[in-house]
Formats: sequence, structure tokens, C-alpha cells
Amino acid sequence: MRQGEAFLTTRATEETEYIGAVLGKAMRPPLVVALYGDLGTGKTVLVRGAARAMGIEEEISSPSFVLLKIYQGRFPLYHYDFYRLNQAEELEELGIDEYLPGEGVAFVEWAGRFPEYLPQELLDVTITRFFDYSGEGRRIHFVPHGPQASQVVEKLIETITWRVDGTLNRLPLTEEINGASSFREGE
Ligand SMILES: Nc1ncnc2c1ncn2[C@@H]1O[C@H](COP(=O)(O)OP(=O)(O)O)[C@@H](O)[C@H]1O
Ligand SMILES: [Mg+2]
Repeated sequence: MRQGEAFLTTRATEETEYIGAVLGKAMRPPLVVALYGDLGTGKTVLVRGAARAMGIEEEISSPSFVLLKIYQGRFPLYHYDFYRLNQAEELEELGIDEYLPGEGVAFVEWAGRFPEYLPQELLDVTITRFFDYSGEGRRIHFVPHGPQASQVVEKLIETITWRVDGTLNRLPLTEEINGASSFREGE
């Protein structure tokens, strides 16, 4: 592992959603998160958590058929899915030049299908499913490219803690979204 990278393990949907929420709290425009991993690994679950933390109340579903969904929280959230995308022209029709990430932040599922559309400053997130003695889980690997992405990964590591039984400590996240302040209530 290189400096700045992080690995987190989750064993429940809610845990991945929580990690998404911490990410959502730490993110500021114009960050782009590129999501990699097989179908059903939890990419959309992670985006759902981030959307909640950004104050978006709408249901977050996979944009694989429409390619792009736009939500308005504290700032716009552009949720892309390149899975069914065949030609780069379709991306241009969607306005990718304007929305990745535009005035907001963006999450791109199946980002590896059209890497040439991703910006240089980027947070790469790869989710892998694993099975072991206690069932299934997910390994979430964060690789930041650039200072903004690195800061977000640092915040993530600072915030995430585990209970003695190995489950994630899902502490309430405050409304405070300023990068300089703490995430936890009462601190
Ligand atoms: N640890 C976990 N993290 C995320 N999702 C999980 C986990 N364990 C089971 N799941 C399930 O896996 C599925 C992930 O779906 P989804 O987020 O739509 O995947 P993707 O967008 O990667 O195709 C959901 O049904 C979710 O409940
Ligand atoms: Mg998905």
C-alpha cells in the first residue's frame, strides 16, 4: 500500500452506508469519487450513505439505465453509472463536461469503463466482496489522487472506529460539514 491509501472492511450493508456517510460529510465540491467493483458489491449503497449525509432525502437508486442522476443537497450530487454506457458520445450528450463535477461533487460507478473522462484530482474507491468464517463482507480500498482526495481519506480514517466485537462504531454525524471541524457530536 502506498502512503495515503486506506483499507476498510464492512460486514453489513449499514456499515458500508455509514462509511459513505462519513465520506459525504468530508467531501466538498469539486471532488469526484470513482467507484470500481463487481455488480452487487455496494457502490450504490456507498453513494446512498453519502447522499444522506449531504442532506439529500430522495431515494438513491442505481442510475445504470439513465446514466446520470442529479440530486440537490447542500450542494449538487451527480451520480453517474457507466455500466451500460456504450459510446463516449452519450456522455457528452449528458453534459459530462459541465457536471463532472460542476458546482458539486460526483460519484461515478464503473468509472473504469471510460477513464479518460475522469479528472486528475480523484478519489478511487474499489469494493471487493469476500467470504470467510463469519460470512460475507466487503473490502473497501481508497486511493486518493491529489490533496483534496487525500484530506478526505485522512478524515475517514480519523472518524471510523470499531467496537470490540468487530462491528463499526456508527456514531451520529453532526450537521457540521466544514472540513476544519470535528464530525462527532459533543466534540
Ligand atoms: N457489507 C456490505 N456492504 C454493502 N452492501 C452489502 C454488504 N453486505 C451485503 N450487501 C448487499 O449487497 C448489495 C449491494 O448492492 P449495490 O450497492 O446496488 O451494488 P453495486 O452498486 O455495486 O452494483 C445490496 O443488496 C446490499 O444490501
Ligand atoms: Mg450500482
